[in-house]
Amino acid sequence: EAGSNHAHGVAIPVTNNGALAMRACNEIIAEASEAPLREFRLTAAQTVKELDNGKSAKVWAFNGLVPGPELRVTEGDRVRIVLNNKDINEGVTVHWHGIVLPCSQDGVAGVSQNAVKPGEQFTYEFEAGYPGTYWYHSHQASSEQVKKGLLGKLIVEPKNDAFDYDEEDSLLIQQLNGTYLMNGSTKDWNIEAAPGSTVRVRVINAANETDTVSVNGAAYRIIAMDGHDLNEPGLLDNYEFQMGAGQRYDLLLQIPQQGKVIVASKKSGLKATLGTGSDPVISSDPSLFSFVDYGKPVSDKSKARLSFDRNYSVTLDQNLFVNTINGKSFHEIPPMMVEEGDHVKITITNAGGGDHPFHLHGHVFRVLSRNGQPLSGSPVYLDTLLTQKGEAFEVHVIADNPGLWMMHCHDLMHASMGMSMMFNYE
Ligand code: C2O
Ligand code: CU
Repeated sequence: EAGSNHAHGVAIPVTNNGALAMRACNEIIAEASEAPLREFRLTAAQTVKELDNGKSAKVWAFNGLVPGPELRVTEGDRVRIVLNNKDINEGVTVHWHGIVLPCSQDGVAGVSQNAVKPGEQFTYEFEAGYPGTYWYHSHQASSEQVKKGLLGKLIVEPKNDAFDYDEEDSLLIQQLNGTYLMNGSTKDWNIEAAPGSTVRVRVINAANETDTVSVNGAAYRIIAMDGHDLNEPGLLDNYEFQMGAGQRYDLLLQIPQQGKVIVASKKSGLKATLGTGSDPVISSDPSLFSFVDYGKPVSDKSKARLSFDRNYSVTLDQNLFVNTINGKSFHEIPPMMVEEGDHVKITITNAGGGDHPFHLHGHVFRVLSRNGQPLSGSPVYLDTLLTQKGEAFEVHVIADNPGLWMMHCHDLMHASMGMSMMFNYE
């Protein structure tokens, strides 16, 4: 069976012994709990989607929808999702991007499970531990299956929100076989919001490329990155920011008494309009958000760690169309080995070949520095780090979730062409 699993389009097993790998993952089972149970059903099937631009597209959809249904739960809930595959011959899985869960529920074909074949079913169960904005997608031949439509939003609402707002909505940007969609549409999105009201906008970059997002018509705050709240984030005005593939940014803004607010995705050319009235003045010279002014330190306790149990480096590059990590591609890359409890520092360098949004499964990491400069404001916790050519970051991972985990570029083409490796516990 192992030969039919393709985490990104390249054949798994990732170790020399796929069966052994899978057993190691499955030994780690979810703990029983008394938390409220939320149940969902996702059925993957081929279908045709009528686009708003008059065209139709052959897609692979969850429950007939592209994107799939939004899954919305509350922090602490027990979430159970029954996945069925109707007719996707190569099989499907669901990976819960950004969620910290037991390895056996991570949905990676060939690592934590075999791909679910037509007529088969798999039940995922995990606790929605950290509130935030997430998404889900197939992790069998993901470079193909995500662009065919097998993805959706996953929102974990906080029990107690650190921020006040009147409305919330989310914008999922994806490429469906190359066509950009916002919330499943080729048209602009509209968010109804009264003048003076405060709105939280969850932006999910589910496309394969870096996007530049601009906000016009109101000053705004970036309140969370990859689902993790920032501490006292500052008010941004006339700023744009970049989002790597796979990343999520939550925005908080207030609708003016007169006029609209526009949140625009430059890559897709699509935008969301909030409120009514006249269009905002679009300033021509926004400054690019430079990873600096996103909030304040929390306390001495949260001071970035300086010494580590393990130090690793990963250099992301492209040679002759082969995407490499430390000069090697997927099957040749030794796993990054850790022991439970380790504090691990990973230095991530982008040596070329495009933007590389680096994603680690099953963990959250803290960004320590960028190009040798320590981050000075709010602690930043991510599961996907956008790196651009020439940049080097240091991140801190606490090895607190035993199992076998993938680490890869979330440009899924790059991942399928070799820019993937494992983060494994001894
Ligand atoms: Cu969002 Cu390994 O993926
Ligand atoms: Cu890449």
